[in-house]
Amino acid sequence: MRTIEWRDDGVYIIDQTKLPRKLVMIRCKDHNRLALAIERMEIRGAPAIGVAAAMGLALVAKNSKGRTLDEIKERLNRASERLRATRPTARNLFWALERMRKVWEGATDPSDLVNNVIREADEVAEEDVRMCKAIGRNGATLVSDGDRILTYCNAGGLACVEYGTAMGVIRSAFESGKKIFVYAAETRPLLQGARLTTFELKSEGIPFKLITDNMIGYIMQKGLINKVVVGADRITRRGDIFNKIGTYGIALMAKAHGIPFYAAAPTSSVDLSVKAEEVIIEERKPEEVTHIANVRIAPEGVDVLNPAFDLTPGELVSGIITEKGVLYPPYNLSGLLGQGH
Ligand code: MRU
Repeated sequence: MRTIEWRDDGVYIIDQTKLPRKLVMIRCKDHNRLALAIERMEIRGAPAIGVAAAMGLALVAKNSKGRTLDEIKERLNRASERLRATRPTARNLFWALERMRKVWEGATDPSDLVNNVIREADEVAEEDVRMCKAIGRNGATLVSDGDRILTYCNAGGLACVEYGTAMGVIRSAFESGKKIFVYAAETRPLLQGARLTTFELKSEGIPFKLITDNMIGYIMQKGLINKVVVGADRITRRGDIFNKIGTYGIALMAKAHGIPFYAAAPTSSVDLSVKAEEVIIEERKPEEVTHIANVRIAPEGVDVLNPAFDLTPGELVSGIITEKGVLYPPYNLSGLLGQGH
């Protein structure tokens, strides 16, 4: 099953806020509904929100049939601004919007424009599947029989179109017959690890245990894990990794225990244009911290800090697994990106 699908009557997404209790799809008839879905995290994960943005633009094109060239371009420009404003940290969203813009900017015929925009969105989705499988294959070479791997948040099929990045590495190693064991950390505040990663591990039949985030130091000290594999929302030229809040602490603990820490991501997460300090870390609403599953756990009126991502400096990252291969420190990602980035 795919996280996001283009169908005749709209774009269908799995509502990830309902998992694992209910597996339901949301039909998005226009880009505004997809933008809302990204904000509400009904669809989430860096590659998936890039694909959602591309499909949102494809809906704009599809719903603009019969309009003039200038009208369609104007509609696409406005929709692109709306989608751009949804979440600030993952590079893939902006990557997808920029890639789609190139398709309509040079267009001279309205019906070609519409068809090309729809085709490009489809290609963004299909490419994600291919990239994740390649990440999986490349990363699996780092995994040995008997490995006990910690993963964090959800960098699985649900965060992409269907295969996953960090989970792609785990799946690929498992599919190749390696006996591995996974520890999935719950990932407060929104529990993507507990709700989504365990859902995927369970359906794949991969042996695992769920732990709370504050157990990680203990299980490392006990020697229960020997590798960490996480995803990434944005990677700088120097190999600095932006990923779910808490990743930095895990990388520090891994370093202290001599455990290799890998980040797996497609090159669409790489951003050569920014320095780490320029990346905007999304701040989300206080209720995500004061409540769990809509139940208040903190007193009324407490002040809350809720950054959604953190920065893990490249020095703490043992390897970056991409669809093009595995990179090792000291990082310089300049040569990695080809056309279209
Ligand atoms: O806030 P989220 O759930 O969108 O954050 C997701 C993550 O941090 C993932 O680890 C990252 O997007 C990589 S997903 C392949």
